[in-house]
Amino acid sequence: MTEPARLSVADIRERIARLPRLDIALKNTPLEEAKNLSKLLGGPRIFVKRDDLTGVALGGNKLRNLEFRMAHAMKDAPDTVIVGLDLQSNSARQTVGACNKLGLKTILVLEGKRPNMVQGNLLVDYLLGADVHFADDRDHQRRLLDSLAADVRKAGGRPHILNDNPMFDVASAVAYLETTIEIVDQLAALGLKPNCFYMSSSGKGQAGMVLAQKLLDVPFVMHGVTATDEFHIPSRTAAIANETSKAIDLGIEIAESDIVNFDGFVGKAYGVPSDAGNEAVRIFARTEGIVLDPIYTGKAAAGLIAHIREGRFAKDDVVVFVHTGGTPAIFTWNSLWA
Ligand SMILES: Cc1ncc(COP(=O)(O)O)c(C=O)c1O
Repeated sequence: MTEPARLSVADIRERIARLPRLDIALKNTPLEEAKNLSKLLGGPRIFVKRDDLTGVALGGNKLRNLEFRMAHAMKDAPDTVIVGLDLQSNSARQTVGACNKLGLKTILVLEGKRPNMVQGNLLVDYLLGADVHFADDRDHQRRLLDSLAADVRKAGGRPHILNDNPMFDVASAVAYLETTIEIVDQLAALGLKPNCFYMSSSGKGQAGMVLAQKLLDVPFVMHGVTATDEFHIPSRTAAIANETSKAIDLGIEIAESDIVNFDGFVGKAYGVPSDAGNEAVRIFARTEGIVLDPIYTGKAAAGLIAHIREGRFAKDDVVVFVHTGGTPAIFTWNSLWA
């Protein structure tokens, strides 16, 4: 890695402010100390960044990146946003919520079949008024995105296919660079500095936190825990971080070896709950009243809990767990809890 250019927080904020942006998410989300959780685990001080409380359509991490992605999309003055995602996608739910706030129609093309029992994110998609279509696989999804866009055009509308939005990855990284600054400020107000972060990561938000790690004058470790084996997260995270560094002129380079990501908590597969993840969901709920989800945040919390049990932290270490949302999945997986 090249020597980091020492940008001040004001410099970083100024770089971020160069990007077009809309106000969609509730930001400055609370940072809550989880004292009961820490006591139960005999662990370090644990602070939970409540990015499940970003406001729109039950909240989550995607609302922060949608501020940049939708600002980019709005240059073409669309009236309809079309997006292809997974059947139970948190991103889909938050996109429909954001589009409602912006007065845009949303067409979702979700990969999978309409289940007999509509639950979780899909239920909220319908409640929010999305026009929902189902695709058999990625190729079918792509064809549907294009044909639905053509239909909108034929009817005199202006479609924007969000999958083709070039801000997809950079927007998430910028959002979580900013979130890390928020967290560091919140801890500084308590006279504390973070030692370590944990976050569920497919590489985008983590890229922003790794940029923050290199830029800010606070030494901490960033631990991503992946919920998927679809990607090689370290190379993907470094690539997104470098694309972001170029896009907003941060003047630093991130190497794959700078990325710490744990892939041992995926369980059977992406989208399938794991025993350790489910235990973590129960522990957070029963100690702190914080509801995680069994697909992303529960698995990340399983990583945190396993590492505390291994004795990796000292009592006065400050560990931040970023709650990235995803809670509607508890209803999809109702038989796990009752
Ligand atoms: C709840 C939740 N946490 C974490 C992630 C991963 O975020 P990223 O894509 O920024 O790595 C997602 C992505 O879908 C998510 O829905």
